[in-house]
Amino acid sequence: MSGLKHITIEQNVEFLKRYAFFERAAMRALAGWLPGVPEWDAKNEIGLHVWESADAVDVIYNRLRELRCHQPERNISPALPVVAAALDKSANTAEVIATVYLVIKKLLLEALRIHPEVTWSNFDNPTVKLTEQVIPALEQQVAWAEAFLPTIIDRYPDWEIWRDYVAGLLASDGGINGVGAKSSPPDRLEGHPLLLPWMQCQRMPDWPIFKPEEDIQPDRKTDPEGYRLWRFKHYTNEMTAAETLGSILWMTPEMSWEYQHNVARHLWDELRHSQLGQIRIQQLGLNVADVPQVVQIYNVMMTLPAVEQYALLTTVLEPNGMPEKTTNREHWEALQDEISAAAVSYDWSDENFHVRWGQKWTPVLLKTYNYPETLEEIRVRMEAWMIENTPVKMQQKHAHHEY
Ligand SMILES: [Fe+2]
Ligand SMILES: [Fe+2]
Repeated sequence: MSGLKHITIEQNVEFLKRYAFFERAAMRALAGWLPGVPEWDAKNEIGLHVWESADAVDVIYNRLRELRCHQPERNISPALPVVAAALDKSANTAEVIATVYLVIKKLLLEALRIHPEVTWSNFDNPTVKLTEQVIPALEQQVAWAEAFLPTIIDRYPDWEIWRDYVAGLLASDGGINGVGAKSSPPDRLEGHPLLLPWMQCQRMPDWPIFKPEEDIQPDRKTDPEGYRLWRFKHYTNEMTAAETLGSILWMTPEMSWEYQHNVARHLWDELRHSQLGQIRIQQLGLNVADVPQVVQIYNVMMTLPAVEQYALLTTVLEPNGMPEKTTNREHWEALQDEISAAAVSYDWSDENFHVRWGQKWTPVLLKTYNYPETLEEIRVRMEAWMIENTPVKMQQKHAHHEY
């Protein structure tokens, strides 16, 4: 044992409650900001970190339950929701990265590293294990942010002001664990409006935008190479599904933690589907920056409330898309294109869970947000809406059972 004074089991619970709170606040801010970040590489990292943050929260909640704390946000310091709201109120990519990663996650990492010396490690072994589980992802996240931020700050002047403000808010509540020296809270900064939820998803200004009328689907049988390239280009645009889930997650904070954990994973899966498209088109000689971005599907879905977006995605688009994936796997296996077949087989596997989550959570969303409809009624309404409003012909074809 080191010479430090150790915390009691009750203090340990309070520390863990704060760690979970900050990871959850990071998850929420990153999910809300996913559509608002125009830098493609940052979007890809942030989508992964939404899931890693959610998973860290889940691990800490499990330990809190073992320590008989079942309401981890009960009696939390009133300063903490103020810090969380300030993360959301970042104005651009630089401020998001500076506050979420280089203030919150960096200090959280430091706190977790010394936690085994602060708690009674010999008796609190499961919490020591927890720190070993959570630290590696946090280290990678912070290292990424430290390397990436300098590459974009030219575009975002004065980002340090918001970083220092958020750091000041945190310090005024005694830091990550709440027992540090408390400074007086910083003066409120004017002119920092909340930009969430993003009504339009952002891309770098020089990236091409999808034109629905120019989207011709090549015939799978007579033009297999054309079809393959076309299909994987559409995969890269599943980024918009991840962005849609980011906004849905941000707009439904009243829902249970289990739902949020599932949506965070759903978000990362859609990001992975975009990445499998990106990997495949690059192997086939295309650059992702040259693939027209289907921003329209995110933008038109944002005209709907979160519940309807979730029902549209999980009870219409995803189940309708399943048969095509089976057909494509058989098609690529027949052509001995094992890479394409492997990619779609994992996509198909993920989609099974997305549809299952949709069946589980859509009824809860309907109830929570006072919809009079049943699951089947909203499915029918959303399918009719989709056929009318989607810019993607492939989604209409799937609705008409053409694969
Ligand atoms: Fe997907
Ligand atoms: Fe999906």
